[in-house]
Amino acid sequence: MILLLVPAGLPVHSQGDSQSDKKFMDNITVTQGETIFLRCPQREIVTHTAWLNRSSILYAGDEKWSVDPRVSLVTLNQDEFTIKIENVDMTDEGQYVCAVQTSRRPTTNVVYVLIQVPPKIINLERDIVVNEGSNVSVLCQAQGKPEPSISWKLITSSGDLATDDEYLEIPSITRNRAGTYECTAVNDIDADTQTIDITVNYAPTVSDGRDIGVKLGQRGVLECEADAVPEPDFEWYKDDRRFINGLDGMEIVNTGSLSKLTFFNVSDSDYGNYTCVAINKLGSSNTSFIIYGNGGSGGIKPFPLLVSLFGMTSH
Ligand SMILES: *[C@@H]1O[C@H](CO)[C@@H](O)[C@H](O)[C@H]1NC(C)=O
Ligand SMILES: *[C@@H]1O[C@H](CO)[C@@H](O)[C@H](O)[C@H]1NC(C)=O
Ligand SMILES: *[C@@H]1O[C@H](CO)[C@@H](O)[C@H](O)[C@H]1NC(C)=O
Ligand SMILES: *[C@@H]1O[C@H](CO)[C@@H](O)[C@H](O)[C@H]1NC(C)=O
Ligand SMILES: *[C@@H]1O[C@H](CO)[C@@H](O)[C@H](O)[C@H]1NC(C)=O
Ligand SMILES: *[C@@H]1O[C@H](CO)[C@@H](O)[C@H](O)[C@H]1NC(C)=O
Repeated sequence: MILLLVPAGLPVHSQGDSQSDKKFMDNITVTQGETIFLRCPQREIVTHTAWLNRSSILYAGDEKWSVDPRVSLVTLNQDEFTIKIENVDMTDEGQYVCAVQTSRRPTTNVVYVLIQVPPKIINLERDIVVNEGSNVSVLCQAQGKPEPSISWKLITSSGDLATDDEYLEIPSITRNRAGTYECTAVNDIDADTQTIDITVNYAPTVSDGRDIGVKLGQRGVLECEADAVPEPDFEWYKDDRRFINGLDGMEIVNTGSLSKLTFFNVSDSDYGNYTCVAINKLGSSNTSFIIYGNGGSGGIKPFPLLVSLFGMTSH
């Protein structure tokens, strides 16, 4: 009885028919480099059928119109018309239409192809060297689809420094911010990671020298330790006189941040006041040491000053 309510002259379509006019296949989401299959149901008696990429025909029936070697026919029969696209790339993203002309009327199937691209860090500076106090800004750029999110982390220390930005900004950098930083780009598909080393240069600081008492004829070692980046050069002085390595009976050995001045056989003239100077391009620092005779093999007269300094008395 409901049919009677339909005004005469208007076309009558069933619900199912009007939907099949423009049937949306599920959208296809694939990762760059993969192969996609575009399937189109044929039904009824098909007179013409074609797959289109935007407005250009890829296949008209079994006739290939596309010049792209990645596009090929998979199946064409009364049930389905399937083509495939190999090694898909970003530019393949978009709407693909299967147009079907039947004896009744044309129908179209529309499918959207979405291409996802794993993240790739494309622009990250090389390791950098800065002076303490500099403002550091390092950019980590990545490509990918969906757009990757980027984060930074200092991985060589407790990891207290982390940021969720493509720029790693460290105003007035201090030495404890030096280390290896990791940039990570993440999207739904994958992650990419790269690291960069930040070296922070600073002027030397030498630890206070420890005075030593050495008996005549014995071995005496002065150790001068410096904290510096880059590693410092060392100079030794006795009073105002520069000590050159290789002098008789003594030796200076530098290993990284430590300099050792060794007397193999301390004589009277070795007693005195020594200064170690650590130098790098950002500055210098020094400390002084006293070598004094501490009793031992007879009649050493301690440095006069030392008597008061160390409360020693001569034997
Ligand atoms: C397919 O993707 C297009 C474009 O993003 C969107 O407009 C449409 O609603 C999607 N269709 C389906 C069936 O998910
Ligand atoms: C689809 O069309 C776009 C834009 O013209 C083109 O860049 C892309 O290569 C085409 N893809 C295929 C598989 O035909
Ligand atoms: C670091 O940045 C601050 C604030 O922008 C600026 O005042 C300062 O001069 C900069 N320092 C150096 C060494 O460029
Ligand atoms: C140390 O020097 C003194 C004086 O020059 C010398 O008599 C003595 O043999 C030396 N001792 C050693 C172990 O070289
Ligand atoms: C040792 O020499 C340094 C540098 O000349 C001086 O500053 C320091 O006071 C001296 N120490 C003693 C105990 O004389
Ligand atoms: C040691 O340091 C003091 C102050 O830091 C400086 O005045 C002096 O010249 C330095 N001595 C040497 C030998 O570099």
